[in-house]
Amino acid sequence: MVVRALDKKRLLLGVCGGIAAYKAAYLVRALMREGADVSVVMTAAATRFVSPLTFATLSGKPCLTDDDLFRPDASVSHVEAGRRADLILLAPATANTIAKIAHGFADNVLSAAVMASTCPVLLVPSMHVGMWTNPFVQHNLAALSSGRYRVMPPDHGELASGDQGPGRFPEVSCIVQEAARCCGKQDLSGRVVVITAGPTAEPLDAVRVLTNPSSGRMGLALAKAAWRRGAVVRMVLGPVPAPESSLPFETIRVGTAQQMLDATRTALDGAHVLIMAAAVADEHPVGVVERKLHKDELPDHLALEPTPDILMSLRSELSDKVVLAFAAETEDLRSSGAAKMIRKGADLLFANPVGEGRGFGAAHNEGVLLGPGNMVEEAPRQLKEDLAEWLLDHVVKRLSGNPEE
Ligand code: CTP
Repeated sequence: MVVRALDKKRLLLGVCGGIAAYKAAYLVRALMREGADVSVVMTAAATRFVSPLTFATLSGKPCLTDDDLFRPDASVSHVEAGRRADLILLAPATANTIAKIAHGFADNVLSAAVMASTCPVLLVPSMHVGMWTNPFVQHNLAALSSGRYRVMPPDHGELASGDQGPGRFPEVSCIVQEAARCCGKQDLSGRVVVITAGPTAEPLDAVRVLTNPSSGRMGLALAKAAWRRGAVVRMVLGPVPAPESSLPFETIRVGTAQQMLDATRTALDGAHVLIMAAAVADEHPVGVVERKLHKDELPDHLALEPTPDILMSLRSELSDKVVLAFAAETEDLRSSGAAKMIRKGADLLFANPVGEGRGFGAAHNEGVLLGPGNMVEEAPRQLKEDLAEWLLDHVVKRLSGNPEE
């Protein structure tokens, strides 16, 4: 099964009259690719920029316009459209529509649908910088930044007028992520989750390192899922190829185990959870040479010394946090996992078999989750993205102080 962030979610996309209305067409496609059932409602001004036929064709459903307000036989009324949605997404949201919603106007099909709804509403304002910085607009947005309303700030950059500044329609992929967060269960809301991911690399000289094939995919899946579930996420990421540029949470890039330890210690300030998904190198070459060693200078034997053990080094700082560790094992999964969990002071440890195509770098993972009181929960082979959700369920249980719930 491929995990889709918006699977079966009913989204009502409200398109307002700004030049970014054309980008909403790409947004429909991207939302649908993530499994959303999308309906579109447009203001009259929006229909001057893009035809309702475009949205009807892309979504495969009639596109609501103001004409539908006065049609007694309308198959989907504005009230029904608002009420059946899991999320209303206003993108682009113009200053005019923002003002209407903030002040309770319902004089067009879009604002009436919002008023009749009870679901979360995500506003994606997009407008000229002069309008964006207008105090009335900001006042209205402040009024729409609580309760079921959420505002996604616009990007900075070149605007349709040629001016520079805030006001640009955000990247479609970022809006999709934000929508997924609005639809997700928010059981990590208010929690700060630190996640280490990827390998570390220990240099021998300026061009050679000691490392391992960890892809960081498990940690990245955990970070994305925790963020969708409402957490403030700080990811400490070792040297893997840059993940997508639009990650919606803080990502601190590190190289060596020592750097990962330092960055994790800093990131733990005020944190509630530490997830050590990183495959930390256990040893590093003694005496790093700053320049490239030529072939005839390379040692016949590498002198190594241990890297810091991150969990052990931080142990005294973790007593008030839920700690999930990982252990990739080739044998004695349960017994070595359990011993490691106790040795490292983790609350939970996911032990997974490696080798024969399993583990490092793979899309799937499987294993056992160990916990206090001889807790053993089997996780069958599944996508790392699915496993991340399951592991977070267990973290949430421990956070709520109800591990057996
Ligand atoms: N870990 C750590 N610091 C290290 C090595 C590992 O914090 N220097 C963390 C890993 O991120 C993981 C857990 O400890 O969450 C277990 O990692 P693993 O490599 O299995 O444990 P080791 O202590 O290296 O044990 P061994 O290699 O002897 O199996």
